[in-house]
Amino acid sequence: TYVVTEACIKCKYTDCVEVCPVDCFYEGDNMLVINPNECIDCGVCEPECPAEAILPDTEDGLEKWLELNADYSEKWPNITTKKEPPADADDHKDEDGKFDKFFS
Ligand code: SF4
Ligand code: F3S
Repeated sequence: TYVVTEACIKCKYTDCVEVCPVDCFYEGDNMLVINPNECIDCGVCEPECPAEAILPDTEDGLEKWLELNADYSEKWPNITTKKEPPADADDHKDEDGKFDKFFS
């Protein structure tokens, strides 16, 4: 599966949802997640994200993000069409240590 990682937080460009053939993105206040049970591993979303937030879970150190994607994709609503990113999305692009902004 592919997972959405920290770089999405406060950016939410939503380009990713437009290309997913199985509509498996889910939307929280500050980031999107992928449902790992629905993702068919096609990989087309990965290059679409301007924040480079989408990665295959085969990369090292993504266990925490896989768990978070699995968990919140069961709680958040499905999103299938692109919407305007937050006005300050570009300010948060390439920012490190955004995990503390997950709930704010
Ligand atoms: Fe959707 Fe494919 Fe991305 Fe999985 S890898 S979330 S199926 S676009
Ligand atoms: Fe997030 Fe990138 Fe999609 S910033 S909403 S994963 S396009």
